[in-house]
Amino acid sequence: MPYTPEHDEVPNPLRPGLRAESAPEPCALVIFGGTGDLAQRKLVPALYNLAVTGHLPAAFGIVGVAKSELSQQEYAQSMREAVGKFSRTKPIDPDIWQDFAAGMRYVAGSFDDPDTFARLRAQLEELDRARSTRGNRLYYCATPPSAFPTLLQQLKGAGLINPPNDSRFTRIVIEKPFGHDLASARALNRLIQEICDERQVFRIDHYLGKETVQNLLVFRFANSIFEPIWNRRFVDHVQITAFEELGVAGRGRYYEEAGILRDMIQNHVLQLVCLSGMEPPVAFDADAVRDEKVKVLRAVEPFQSPEEVARSVVLGQYTAGSVAGADVPGYQQEKDVAPGSRTPTFVALRLNIRSWRWDGVPFYLRSAKRMPKRATEIAVFFHSLPHSLFGEGATQPNVLIIRVQPEEGIALRFAVKVPGERYMPRTVSMDFRYGTAFGMTVPEAYERLLLDAMRGDQTLFTRRDEIEAAWRIVDSILRVSESKEFPPPNPYPAGTWGPPEADQLIARDGRAWRRL
Ligand code: BG6
Repeated sequence: MPYTPEHDEVPNPLRPGLRAESAPEPCALVIFGGTGDLAQRKLVPALYNLAVTGHLPAAFGIVGVAKSELSQQEYAQSMREAVGKFSRTKPIDPDIWQDFAAGMRYVAGSFDDPDTFARLRAQLEELDRARSTRGNRLYYCATPPSAFPTLLQQLKGAGLINPPNDSRFTRIVIEKPFGHDLASARALNRLIQEICDERQVFRIDHYLGKETVQNLLVFRFANSIFEPIWNRRFVDHVQITAFEELGVAGRGRYYEEAGILRDMIQNHVLQLVCLSGMEPPVAFDADAVRDEKVKVLRAVEPFQSPEEVARSVVLGQYTAGSVAGADVPGYQQEKDVAPGSRTPTFVALRLNIRSWRWDGVPFYLRSAKRMPKRATEIAVFFHSLPHSLFGEGATQPNVLIIRVQPEEGIALRFAVKVPGERYMPRTVSMDFRYGTAFGMTVPEAYERLLLDAMRGDQTLFTRRDEIEAAWRIVDSILRVSESKEFPPPNPYPAGTWGPPEADQLIARDGRAWRRL
């Protein structure tokens, strides 16, 4: 249906009853890597669900760009299969799908070939006419990072990037990993700066699209009781965990280059550190929020010496074992992984944030593949009692646990009296669960982030200085851990909680990891 401005005011034609007032401007979304895993598993299902919930602009089109020779119909058909498999809402609604697929196009070609971009241009112009997408473009680089520079240069060369103040918007979403280290991230940022404006760049970290991660901002800054105690006077330490049952899931080639530090710590886990550790922003807008996040990263002390890395970081790699009752191979037996590989799949480390709020409060981070269960959480441990009335060791410190996934929610652990004559304390949990409280499935992270990119809201995307500050920290570990002198990662059988050295790391400080 061609776009007319009234569509913004009337109920969404795809979903009677749902108004479309929050819909972004008309636009075409180009997915480079349009047939890839990310497009199939996440992006196209997320876009389809935005259509289901009435959040897509009334005038919208998708152009997949990839190497495979496919017709438009074949592309739309393969996306329908992907959505059928991976969508959070099922079954596919035939009416919604029909309209959604009518705006779908495909361009086959290599990213090195300028002709691919000439044909992309023609295709976008055709979409502007057929679907009234009005020259607004969102380019999504869902490709391996090695393709990012070529894509940017080709887009520029083909005149497909409008200046930031043009009435037709051009925005570019860049997937992680953003660079391989600080130097390559800086080089990519410089290239981006030559080609477009920071306001047009959306560096994605899908953790920021998770409801529970965004809730950290609301939980911290929309309640008055937590902020006064959210500091070194009351907090003993913080533990941030991101554990997965999954192994490298067929991505051995990528993972060999990345390892857990680049794959999870540089982005997702450090983002959780930022949101847990930041000061209240002066306003709730993209720059004010990101200003505070970057300050946390700047206050993190990079590791100064090999001895310090050896004291504060433990790496591990899974060997064969069993997860959720199934036997699984070791990392070195995975496809595309070199025998003798030193790539870590487990990390536990201690960070210090040198700020008035956090000085002396260690942040312990751990992330791993092939754990006994999936669990991402932030646990804030408060100081122990100065003196216990109820006997030595009778009480545990209070802990606040923010469960990012699964069983999304927040729990506070505190002591109560066990019923009976004696004053016997026992720790119990006060537990909020999203599922029970709101009775709805939370939208996928990519739905929120795609919508924000279409609306031009950068709050949940990482800024240039933020990404470089995160690399500065991770680089200071990699420089040591990737040198030949550093010992290889400690083995741990798949389905166990990682190498014992990780327990020793925290035990040396007189603390223990929270049991999950
Ligand atoms: C990705 C990593 O960014 O995040 C994967 O590349 C990891 O290795 C995934 O499995 C975890 O995301 P989630 O949303 O399942 O916690």
